[in-house]
Amino acid sequence: MEKKTIVVGVTGGIACYKAAALCSKLTQRGYNVEVVLTKNATEFIGPHTFESLTHNRVMVDTFDRNFQSHVEHVALADKADLLLVAPATANIIAKAAHGIADDMLSTTILACDCPKLIAPAMNTRMYENPVTQDNLSALRRYGWEVIEPATGHLACGATGKGKMPEPEDLLEAVDHAVRYEKDLTGLRILVTAGPTRERLDPVRFISNHSTGKMGYAVARAAAYRGAQVTLISGPVSLKKPAYVETVDVESALDMFQAVQSQAEEHDIIIKTAAVADYRPAQVSGEKIKKEEGDLSLPLERTDDILGWLGQHRKPRQFLCGFSMETENLVENSRQKLSRKGIQMICANSLRQEGAGFGGETNVLTLITPSWEEALPLMSKEEAAHRVLDAILRERKPT
Ligand code: CTP
Repeated sequence: MEKKTIVVGVTGGIACYKAAALCSKLTQRGYNVEVVLTKNATEFIGPHTFESLTHNRVMVDTFDRNFQSHVEHVALADKADLLLVAPATANIIAKAAHGIADDMLSTTILACDCPKLIAPAMNTRMYENPVTQDNLSALRRYGWEVIEPATGHLACGATGKGKMPEPEDLLEAVDHAVRYEKDLTGLRILVTAGPTRERLDPVRFISNHSTGKMGYAVARAAAYRGAQVTLISGPVSLKKPAYVETVDVESALDMFQAVQSQAEEHDIIIKTAAVADYRPAQVSGEKIKKEEGDLSLPLERTDDILGWLGQHRKPRQFLCGFSMETENLVENSRQKLSRKGIQMICANSLRQEGAGFGGETNVLTLITPSWEEALPLMSKEEAAHRVLDAILRERKPT
């Protein structure tokens, strides 16, 4: 990835302390981060903090004599791939909405023609004031993406809407805006992720070790690349990806019904979910009490969701499965590819170090009817992109 420059405007609100963590995360993610502080922001946090984190000079005011150029705001705007104002006070929102340019940050804002994000952070009444809301609407009209503030405890002591989102949420917004080429724009992608839970009684269920990390990585990567993404998720403890519509389900039957209702309108379906193949034949309404001796549970088969999709595939719809094996990885996965009538299967072995449930990495072998490619060990994020690259290549009309 060529190094992209993110200009971060920091204005004078208590959430300034989170801006330092944000700049650290952006730098670690590989962005060149240029910070502009308003004078009021320096009352909360000093430039040295940001300079240490970003390794760049921080700008505070247009009349700072140490700058090399008298038009530093224009030079900065020229360099910017993205402008992010976080935290944004009601004051900077009003200035940006009306083209007022009277300091380093507001002149830079006016000179920037790159994508712009703004994260309002203030007292709830200030945020909900129709003047602020009108100003935010004006910014949206001018093409800004407004990142909704979170609800919670505010510095004024009240609880309400107006908190700056956490740095990792802002990082997600930056990644979504500029990190990747939007080569999936116009495509609707359905992803399933996580395990399913098959209830036995009100306190017990049958499930598996899937954490949903691979599927969430695929959904997030597809959204970053411009796709319209729906994620059908079994029970996991992961944060919902932004820019993705998530549908929560519990059992294989819930997932089957959700997939059936969504399948028709999607161009690509990627089934990373670890769906239970069996469920208890009876679900007890009361807790099953132990008795003397052993217990056997009759199980019945669940529906093969991917098999159903293969039988009901729309023309040009691309179906991609995942296959977890402990032996004969490629042969078994190839059999699933043809049995289920799908276009690609991503095989991973539980026996391989760095692959499988829970971890941050995976080792996939991508298999289609005509070729296969063994990918090396890589992060699940990178693996998700490689899967999407392969699907894009395969979908190309020949
Ligand atoms: N799958 C599905 N519905 C099921 C079981 C699996 O849609 N009831 C999908 C999974 O989401 C995955 C693919 O089928 O994309 C392969 O899943 P896997 O569990 O590896 O294979 P199975 O079909 O269960 O076959 P086997 O039991 O032989 O491993």
